[in-house]
Amino acid sequence: MWEKIVFLSLFGISQVFGGYVFSKDFVFGAATASFQIEGAWNESGKSEGCWDHIAHYTNEIDDHSNGDVACDSYHKIDEDIKVLKELGVDSYRFSLSWPRILPEGFSNKVNPDGIRYYNELIDKLLANNITPLVTIYHWDHPQSLQLLGGWTNPRMVEYFADYARVAFEHFGDRVKLWATLNEPKQFCKEMIWGEGKSLGSVALDAVAPYLCAHTLLKAHAKAYHVYKNEFAKQNGKVGLVLDIPWSDPLTNTTKDIEAANRDLEFMFGIYAHPIFAKDGDFPKLVKDRVANMSKLQSFRQSRLPEFTEEEIKEIRGTADFLGINHYSTNYVNDASDEIDVLTPSTDNDVAVKKTVDPSWPASDIFWLYDVPWGFYKALMYVKNYTNNIPVYITENGFCEEALDDQGRIHYLNGYLQSVSDAISEGANILGYYAWSLLDNFEWHRGYTKRFGMFHINYTDPSRPRTARSSVKVYKNIIYNTKLNNL
Ligand code: NOJ
Repeated sequence: MWEKIVFLSLFGISQVFGGYVFSKDFVFGAATASFQIEGAWNESGKSEGCWDHIAHYTNEIDDHSNGDVACDSYHKIDEDIKVLKELGVDSYRFSLSWPRILPEGFSNKVNPDGIRYYNELIDKLLANNITPLVTIYHWDHPQSLQLLGGWTNPRMVEYFADYARVAFEHFGDRVKLWATLNEPKQFCKEMIWGEGKSLGSVALDAVAPYLCAHTLLKAHAKAYHVYKNEFAKQNGKVGLVLDIPWSDPLTNTTKDIEAANRDLEFMFGIYAHPIFAKDGDFPKLVKDRVANMSKLQSFRQSRLPEFTEEEIKEIRGTADFLGINHYSTNYVNDASDEIDVLTPSTDNDVAVKKTVDPSWPASDIFWLYDVPWGFYKALMYVKNYTNNIPVYITENGFCEEALDDQGRIHYLNGYLQSVSDAISEGANILGYYAWSLLDNFEWHRGYTKRFGMFHINYTDPSRPRTARSSVKVYKNIIYNTKLNNL
């Protein structure tokens, strides 16, 4: 053991307790997102965001709650800094609220109070030696833009690039790590089409997710180029955040191995291939598959839009780093024989069935299990897919309400071990952000599901933050890693 420490130290990495291998520059952080924590939904010039609208006017939120107050982080910068300090993190990943900064959606009208709020947050983070990693868009665009079609509207590319430019202009002197978008796949497929999707709307379920992917990729690329062309002097890095749940073949039959691979191409490759593959563009497998299905369904053209040659070039290579959000694993088997190919839907395009192993430790939310080996496989897959681009794990965490959150602790230890193992195998992983710093508004699940290392009491108007047991564990991991790396 000690020989190993000496050996690894010589190479600038060290082995700390628990068997983790992290370099002294490895970044430990915690993450949140604007809509999920800020509250102050209509204060000081902020307009209605698309998620305000969903929460206020539909029945889609399990507990009929909304983001009106949430963790009240808009009024609680000091409290949030305090808990970040208590954890001892090096970095904080948070997102900007588009409707707070540009209430009408466009850059002709910048809300001074939106700028003031984020300036104050950034300054206080830096004063406390906490590096900001800022997500420009974590799903909350202004409702006015949703009325224009949201991400199915190709003009969103320009609106987003303008918004990103405002962010770079105002905060780029101090923010050096930018993620343009968060989890486009989740957003485009699950988040915004509302009841229409479950009612079997072809437009919303079989067409919109692909239009959304197409527009978001162009928007990301445009924002990247805005930075490189106009703000290169700020010397920061720009990337994006993709989610990659792991899909493992249920059996070792060719059919299931292909199904698992197909699932990953539709979830991850559809966003990663245009940016990281030498030839860019959507993956061939995805293009062929959607084109064939569309033809069978009597569409005259593929439901997946094409990129022009120029767009392919503009998108390729637009990431200095990749943010990876990972939570859980599924077994996947081929469902080609079970689907009705004549019914257009994105799920039918993929044609897989997903299951879990009942022996995996379950969290409080139906889709999340503690399967650390799946994380390891996902990280190695990302390494190969992206030619080992620098990666930050921008989200990883467990859903558990108990204050003595032993499930979260078990998950944290196992998943950090997987990060460490992947690093030992050459993966270029620079940091890890726990999701989440605080309990928060879990989208369609409202406040019924809790991901925070700090508990929030939503019935108390002052929204007290209380440490769960995992805080001590994460804090010790961070402290000991730094200590062993002096
Ligand atoms: C990923 C999303 O980015 C985040 O907003 C969400 O709360 C977590 N997953 C947990 O579901």
